[in-house]
Amino acid sequence: MAVERPLRDPRRPPLAFHAACPHGLEESLARELEALGASCVPARGGVAFEGDLALAYRANLRSRIASRILLRLAREPYRNEDDLYRIAKAIDWTAWFGPGQTLRVDVTGSRSPLRSLNFATLRIKDAIVDMIRERTGDRPSIDTRRPDARVFAHLDEREASVYLDLSGEPLFKRGWRQRDDKGEAPLKENLAAGLLALAGWQPQQPLFDPFCGSGTILIEAAQIARGIAPGLSRRFGFERLLRFDEALWADLRAQAQGEMQAGREARPAIFGADIDPAAIAQARANAQRAGLGDDAIGFAVADCRQLEPPTDTPGTIVCNPPYGERIDVAGGDYDATMLALGQRLKAGFGGWEAWVLSGDRQLPRRLRIREKRKFPLYNGPIDCRLFGFELFAPTPLG
Ligand SMILES: C[S@@+](CC[C@H](N)C(=O)[O-])C[C@H]1O[C@@H](n2cnc3c(N)ncnc32)[C@H](O)[C@@H]1O
Repeated sequence: MAVERPLRDPRRPPLAFHAACPHGLEESLARELEALGASCVPARGGVAFEGDLALAYRANLRSRIASRILLRLAREPYRNEDDLYRIAKAIDWTAWFGPGQTLRVDVTGSRSPLRSLNFATLRIKDAIVDMIRERTGDRPSIDTRRPDARVFAHLDEREASVYLDLSGEPLFKRGWRQRDDKGEAPLKENLAAGLLALAGWQPQQPLFDPFCGSGTILIEAAQIARGIAPGLSRRFGFERLLRFDEALWADLRAQAQGEMQAGREARPAIFGADIDPAAIAQARANAQRAGLGDDAIGFAVADCRQLEPPTDTPGTIVCNPPYGERIDVAGGDYDATMLALGQRLKAGFGGWEAWVLSGDRQLPRRLRIREKRKFPLYNGPIDCRLFGFELFAPTPLG
């Protein structure tokens, strides 16, 4: 249902949003949202910001680092499940969805005094259903698989926050990955974008991922270089809500499409290699589906133990090699492979920076290169580090 302009009325009080992201990327996400016009407060696992729905639509369409954009509808002290029922029932849900639509509720807690999050979920769901039934005479039904509306609540020690999800499928699903493309543990797209942000890579610099697998890091980078908004080929949760401003959304998409057209001629120096020819074939197909054509990324089958720089000009390496615990390195022994990689980096990549995500805390020792920076990050449940190495050009003799 389209709504007339009021969603952009500057006299309306601003809405409160929470953008969720992987731990360790909060500051990078805040900078990204600030570039979209938000003023942000980083929190653990995300960023709080205020604005209108147009800002939230833009964040969904353009944020590379957020996993979801949530609209906060309540934040109040609570002590028990009855408080949760009261808080959730006081929200005017009928402004967002109605009895003909389906609903899912999820509750998370950190140091919540409540004994059962399942029971808390049930009480919040009851409150929403009761509120809509009392107001309209009918109730929404529950659908946990493909709900029209998704409500999240977060319970901390004292306060309950209730959110309406605006994203639908998590934002790292850009719409280009095929279901069977599980590769060898592909990175989530928003983590890949976060690595590029932490590495400080700029589109005019050469980029190389020598363990590119399905190509996630390179595809994110090439889309940045070509001005392709990450959400252009997917749908969003807000499109199914009653207060959906179709005209505004069409404007925002048209603007992003114009930027994509304008970026088509960009020729970034982005390169990927992997020892596995099947991974390279998959990465090429993924780049095609991500709207990048054949010429945005140069791919090659190569073993990291014989690594050569893909350009004469130094640039930035960003990668996540296998690290023993999760997947074995092709070619045998992990320690020996990392030692050989370190030797190649020192011998052939003078003037480059290398940023390596790994769950192996001993990686710098194995590469025999001391790190210049180190960022803690989670790759799913795995506690990782992004190590930044500066590779020095050999000093000319005499
Ligand atoms: C953790 S995966 C990288 C996933 C990738 N970032 C993605 O998002 O799809 C590690 C990759 O390293 C590759 N690999 C393993 N041993 C290698 C070696 N000796 N040289 C180059 N690549 C290797 C594997 O084939 C695998 O694709």
